[in-house]
Amino acid sequence: MLSGKKILLCITGSIAAYKSVFLLRLFIQANAEVKVVMTNAAKDFISPLTFSTLSKNKVLSDLFESDTWSDHVALGRWADMILVAPASCNTIARMSHGICDNLLLATYFSATAPVMVAPAMDEDMWQHPTTKKNIQILRDNGNKVLDVDRGELASGLYGPGRMAEPKEIFELVKDFFFAEQKLKGKKALVTAGPTYESIDPVRFIGNHSTGKMGIAIAQELCRQGADVHLVLGPSALPPPRDIKTIRVVSAEEMFNASMNLVPDSDIVVMAAAVADFRATNTANQKIKKSSDVRTIELSPTKDILKSAGKIKTPKQILVGFALETENAEQNALKKLKEKNADLIILNQLDGDGAGFGYDTNKITIFGRNGVAQHFEKKAKKEVAKDIVKAITTYQHV
Ligand code: CTP
Repeated sequence: MLSGKKILLCITGSIAAYKSVFLLRLFIQANAEVKVVMTNAAKDFISPLTFSTLSKNKVLSDLFESDTWSDHVALGRWADMILVAPASCNTIARMSHGICDNLLLATYFSATAPVMVAPAMDEDMWQHPTTKKNIQILRDNGNKVLDVDRGELASGLYGPGRMAEPKEIFELVKDFFFAEQKLKGKKALVTAGPTYESIDPVRFIGNHSTGKMGIAIAQELCRQGADVHLVLGPSALPPPRDIKTIRVVSAEEMFNASMNLVPDSDIVVMAAAVADFRATNTANQKIKKSSDVRTIELSPTKDILKSAGKIKTPKQILVGFALETENAEQNALKKLKEKNADLIILNQLDGDGAGFGYDTNKITIFGRNGVAQHFEKKAKKEVAKDIVKAITTYQHV
């Protein structure tokens, strides 16, 4: 699968170094040729012998060995890709500031090959403004910096900072070598997350949407080469770094931000769970328990998908979601027609690992011709791939 591809795997001082053993195995199983560079700090976490045994190449660490020097320039040129995984806070700082005091850094600074960086550190280090700036410098310098995962960290805390899983990094490396980027040159707009409609300064009408599905679609469109804008409601999830994200709160704000972008978009995917109603009057002060307010008068919000459907041109593709709890197919098809969408993704809230809050989803995609494609329950990232595939293969009729 990766035969003929030369990967320079650079490992720095992080507890995540053990994951690089699995990553190396995946590369070797895929017939890639891998050389490993380790910093001295990395060797405190895992033995070079493990990597030399698996890669069948000597692990490189030092700029100088007795009276010879390691040819970092040749090493950088040998590689088709340089992958720094895990990349510690320290190495990221050095890479972004031109500090060149070990073989890994010397190779990085003299390399011509593309560079992918998989950071790993504790949450506070990851959130530190200095780290954020350093990551931005790496990105501005053309390196591909992967997002970190959330989860249990070496400190015992739970949060963002874990290195991406080896399988995920492996897939991204494969994509890097082989992805067709079918949507290169296309502009896409995705709405995601819930909306909050204020009742008074402290209360709102909202829903349980997390924005996970919409964010995954935006990332997949981006992976396929599209230039993506994401209009994201008040989701607790951090917006993806590579994607231009506009944060909004209410349905009205989402409407305005989205409708601004619709005319210039080739692909529009409305995955947001937009509130259908807002409070007709928002109280300026907190409504007191002692007040005699017992009902909230509601007014409908504007339907963004329907409005986009009204101005849709034949070259645009408009994708909507249908969130149904009953008469699912019938309602989905009704929405497809009434909102003038090209595709409708039926999302059934059956409580069995599908829908809001879950990492998985189960969908059916309906096209204008009424043809339905049913899918198994899958991880939302995989569901996003199915949706984007349906978009890329969509034929205008
Ligand atoms: N949608 C929208 N603007 C709204 C309401 C919905 O753009 N004000 C979009 C959603 O993003 C989704 C589609 O319309 O792509 C269908 O949303 P859904 O909540 O399933 O249906 P509604 O149209 O709101 O109808 P109902 O709540 O009666 O099922």
